[in-house]
Amino acid sequence: ARARPDAADGEVTVAGLRLSDLAERFGTPLYVLDEGEFRDRCRAYRRALPQAHVAYAGKAFLSRAVAAWVREEGLHLDVCSLGELEVAAAAGFPAERMILHGNAKTPDELRAALRFGVGRIVLDNVAEVARLAALVPAHDRQAVLIRVIPGVEAGAHKAIRTGTADQKFGLSIEHGAAEDAIARVLDQPRLELVGLHCHLGSQITSVRPFLAALPRMAALAARVRDRHGVVLPELDLGGGHGIAYRSGEHALDPAEFADDVMRHLVRAYAAVGLPGPQLIVEPGRALIGPAGVAVYRVLVVKRTGDRTFVAVDGGMNDNPRPALYGARPELRLIGRAGARTTRTVTVVGRFCEAGDILAPDVELPDDVRPGDLLAAPAAGAYQMAMASTYNMVGRPPVVAVRDGRARVIVRRETTADLLARDVPLGD
Ligand code: LLP
Repeated sequence: ARARPDAADGEVTVAGLRLSDLAERFGTPLYVLDEGEFRDRCRAYRRALPQAHVAYAGKAFLSRAVAAWVREEGLHLDVCSLGELEVAAAAGFPAERMILHGNAKTPDELRAALRFGVGRIVLDNVAEVARLAALVPAHDRQAVLIRVIPGVEAGAHKAIRTGTADQKFGLSIEHGAAEDAIARVLDQPRLELVGLHCHLGSQITSVRPFLAALPRMAALAARVRDRHGVVLPELDLGGGHGIAYRSGEHALDPAEFADDVMRHLVRAYAAVGLPGPQLIVEPGRALIGPAGVAVYRVLVVKRTGDRTFVAVDGGMNDNPRPALYGARPELRLIGRAGARTTRTVTVVGRFCEAGDILAPDVELPDDVRPGDLLAAPAAGAYQMAMASTYNMVGRPPVVAVRDGRARVIVRRETTADLLARDVPLGD
């Protein structure tokens, strides 16, 4: 979020609202989403890539409000489950602008995608080709892309690297798996192969890996032309655009990405005698990540061994990224002016495991104490989307702010919500 810190009183405002007021009003832990910032990011991508289709990857965070913003901003939407598809549909998102992903789509997901009229389905394996074709009604055709593994290493952590063969997504170019699947799709009259897809990984901060993938994708498109006489009109380069989680970190700039990719795309396809394809990109984190901020309240400050632990009222339930990927959010004291001198503390959550560490080494004012508020910027992506209810603790609310106004777009989960799906044994 475009947080505006005011050093004098330690206050931070987002869209004209003080985070400490929002914490008071909605309770903590709290996720604040800056609608204006999200929309600006959508617009920056569309401006940078006017000829491309920009699809927001809903897995980063999706709700009906977010789907409506994406619809209004004219973006496409990447969905990867029946749930995401239904949330988007409930927000009136046009199905023809949706792309369905998944390495193991369920029969229900495929059927729903066809029923809703999803624009593109990205096939990830050979079994899916016949499975999908069998569900398409006679005289109908479903547009599909084939997800291939381009053989390019990129991404911030092993768990989010998908550009090389040693992971579950896509079909290898090298061993002919991709070409075999392509031949099978072209054999199915109810499927229309419109292009190739690849996704290198996530939190990639350099454009270089994307450029490295282009000649490989072009070479495959040329082989498809040579073998089948088919020119594939589209290329989906996936998402993975990295953001700055901490001050001073580098983010992938959409304008720079667009310039370099468009230039290299045309060149790589021209080199194999093909026209530049219609480009699709699928950023998730880069659109919503910087628009979010998490707010926690300090419950305990305690010294154990050589460390000072600052325990807050959230943790791995609302943000599993530190535990999963070694992410280190930047936390700062807000809502009051702290001491001028600082100390290094370990900020931990309230959940029952020692691995519930939000940040192992944060500089906080010396006088940090229970009742203080801590804010973590760049919290909009893959936090609430991956939140759990471990320890029977309900998930925090998401409050959207715009022009001095705050609206709850996902309410706090209560124990009553958790009990609602718990079935007692009865007598
Ligand atoms: N397209 C496809 C096919 C994807 O698999 C993904 C992300 C995206 C687009 C969007 O990627 P983004 O632009 O957001 O990096 N939970 C992890 C990230 C997992 C990404 C999964 N796929 C994290 O918190 O870092």
